[in-house]
Amino acid sequence: MSKTMTLNEFILDRQAEFPFATGELTRILGDIALASKIVARDVRRAGLIDNILGAQGETNIQGEEQQKLDVIADNQFIKVFKHGGEICGIASEENDDFVAFEGEQAMNGKYVVLFDPLDGSSNIDVNVSIGTIFSIYRRVSPVGTKATLEDMLQKGTEQIAAGYVLYGSSTMLVYTTGCGVNGFTLDPSIGEFCLSHPDMKMPVDGRIYAMNEGNIKICEQGLRDYISYCQEADATPLHPYSGRYIGSLVADFHRNLVKGGIYVYPDTTLHPEGKLRLLYECNPLAFIAEQAGGQATTGRMRVLEIKPEKLHQRVPYYTGSKNMMDKAMSLLK
Ligand code: AHG
Ligand code: MN
Ligand code: MN
Repeated sequence: MSKTMTLNEFILDRQAEFPFATGELTRILGDIALASKIVARDVRRAGLIDNILGAQGETNIQGEEQQKLDVIADNQFIKVFKHGGEICGIASEENDDFVAFEGEQAMNGKYVVLFDPLDGSSNIDVNVSIGTIFSIYRRVSPVGTKATLEDMLQKGTEQIAAGYVLYGSSTMLVYTTGCGVNGFTLDPSIGEFCLSHPDMKMPVDGRIYAMNEGNIKICEQGLRDYISYCQEADATPLHPYSGRYIGSLVADFHRNLVKGGIYVYPDTTLHPEGKLRLLYECNPLAFIAEQAGGQATTGRMRVLEIKPEKLHQRVPYYTGSKNMMDKAMSLLK
C-alpha cells in the first residue's frame, strides 16, 4: 500500500511548478485548507448548534437572502486571507464591494482571491451537499499599494490557481494550478486533506445532464432541443441520459467531473444574463473543467476569455464532458 500523501506534502512537492511564487501559493492554498476545515466542522454540526442554520435576516447585493452559514464561512475565509500576508484583497459573493486589506504586510501581498464562501446555500438547512469555490490571481496593481478593482476584473485565463471544497458525504478539496487537477479527501480522524483523486480527468462522454428543468419553458429553443436529445430513448447507446440536479453547483460539477456529464444554467427570459456569477463560480470551475479535459462556455463563447466588467457579473453557463458539450453547442444558434 502506498504512503498517504497530505495536501501540504503534495503542494510542497509541486512548488517547483511555480518558480515565480515559491512558498506564496503554497501558503495561500494552506490557508484555504485551514479555513475550509473550520467551515466543514461547522457544517457537520450545523443542526446541533445555535446560530448556524437559518437565514441571517439580510440580503446580499444580488438580492438573495443570506444564510447564517454564508456569513460564517465568508468571515472565516476573509480572516485567514487577511492575516496570511500573501493576499492584498478579496472579492466574495457576500460582499457588495471588493475588500482591499489595509496594513503594510497585506499591501505587499501579490495575490487576490475571489470566492463563493458557501455555494448551494438553499441546501444548508436540508442537509444536502454544499461547497466553497475559489479563484486566485496575481494582482495587476503595484505591490505595496492597496488592491484595486482592476485586480479583481481579470479574465479567467489569468487565474493562477482555482478550486473548490465540497462538504458532501465526505469533505473534499479539488484544485488546479494549471498543471492538471487533483482531489483530496479530508480524513477527519487526523484532520488532514489526503490525496485521494490524483490527476482527475473528466470522462469525454457521459450520460448525466444537470439543469433546473423548471426553467425549460423560458430558455432558448436550442437548449430545449438539446434537453429533448438527452431524453431521447435511443439516440446513442448511452441514451436516455439521466437527469440529476442537486442545486449546489459545486456538487453537480463534482459529480460530472468524476462520472462525466453536462451542467447547464442558461440565460432565461426571467434572468437574461443567467444566474451564476462569472468571477467566483463560473471561472474557477471552468479552469478546472478545462484542466480535466472538459469544457466551459456561455453557449456562445469560452467562459475563460470573457473580460469581466462587474464584480458580481452573471453569465449563462454550460460545462461538462467534451462530447456532450460539443453536441449541446451544435444545437445552440
Ligand atoms: P449560492 O448558494 O452561492 O447563491 O449559489 C446557488 C447557485 C448554485 O449553487 C446552484 O447550482 C444554483 O444557484 C441553483 O439555482 P436554482 O435554484 O435556480 O436552480
Ligand atoms: Mn454559489
Ligand atoms: Mn454562495
